[in-house]
Amino acid sequence: MKAVEIDSYGGPEVLKFRDVLDPVPRAGEVVADIFAASVNPVDWKVRNGERQASLHLQFSHVLGVDFSGVVRSVGEGVTQFSVGDEVYGTTAQDQRGCYAEALAVPASQLALKPKAMSHKEAAAIALVGLTALVSLDDVAGLKSGETILVHAAAGGVGGFAVQYAKSVGAKVFATASTPNHDYVRSLGADVVIDYRSQDFTEIAKDCDVVYETVGGDVQARSVSVLKPGGRLVYITKAPEGFVPPDHIEYLRPKVPRDGGHMAVITELVEKGAIWAPEITEMPLDQIKRAHELSATEHVRGKIVLTVR
Ligand SMILES: NC(=O)c1ccc[n+]([C@@H]2O[C@H](COP(=O)([O-])OP(=O)(O)OC[C@H]3O[C@@H](n4cnc5c(N)ncnc54)[C@H](OP(=O)(O)O)[C@@H]3O)[C@@H](O)[C@H]2O)c1
Repeated sequence: MKAVEIDSYGGPEVLKFRDVLDPVPRAGEVVADIFAASVNPVDWKVRNGERQASLHLQFSHVLGVDFSGVVRSVGEGVTQFSVGDEVYGTTAQDQRGCYAEALAVPASQLALKPKAMSHKEAAAIALVGLTALVSLDDVAGLKSGETILVHAAAGGVGGFAVQYAKSVGAKVFATASTPNHDYVRSLGADVVIDYRSQDFTEIAKDCDVVYETVGGDVQARSVSVLKPGGRLVYITKAPEGFVPPDHIEYLRPKVPRDGGHMAVITELVEKGAIWAPEITEMPLDQIKRAHELSATEHVRGKIVLTVR
């Protein structure tokens, strides 16, 4: 089968589209034929070696942390899925990844794909959905009637977060550049702020939650929009030397790779609370171009690699 492997850390040139051996399921695993995989910023951050200190990869390694596909075979002890099931899910950064025509993955990391979504759409929401759901539900405990500021709302995680926050009945402030404002409004944001020409701290006031997906200075400045006792949930690097004040909760989610949360996302899609983001589609062999585009950090919605 075809896969994209890296043999070392480096620029996009280390991504090699090549023939590799077909996977075989071990106990507890399924082998899925991948129809679509998405590109996430973590992929090029792992590729370029940024994560070396905490992540010990065995080369050759396949990148890619989410996919949608069809179960080809099941390993011993797998009872929740059968051959032919349409599934989607995520892999951890140190597991063999999804830039491939097939993948052996623990069944516990998968759920049935939402029926109303194509494989491309399901791949587009898998990791970002898991991340946003864990962040806003498990960690922030966002409730109806609360106010949230979602940063980078035109991106993968932020876009899902806006939809989720609206579905629970929150008021949503969101940041994005002006060309993306209609898109972010279409996801459900009540007030969209152009972070380039406007000061978000002057517009978003008395928030219960900030979802911080940009990092650096944005994180430090976000403190001032929170009410006392408000929750700052962040998934990017904290600014150097930043000490959060005592009057807020400062929360870094740990995102498990589990099928239970994926099943909740499937339910959210099936009740109409979540729909697919805008998708830029590229074939798997165009992976270098896909990484270059993702690394601009200005993609609207998601990049999805079509595999079949
Ligand atoms: N993907 C995941 O599940 C995941 C999990 C954990 C952590 N993270 C981290 O979270 C961050 C966001 O991930 P992502 O997948 O959502 O990235 P993404 O889809 O690549 O985000 C791109 C979006 O960011 C917006 N943006 C860039 N700079 C901004 C700024 N200063 N203020 C507001 N918006 C800005 C851009 O909108 P404009 O073009 O309008 O500027 C663009 O639409 C990344 O650092 C990633 O590593 C992601």
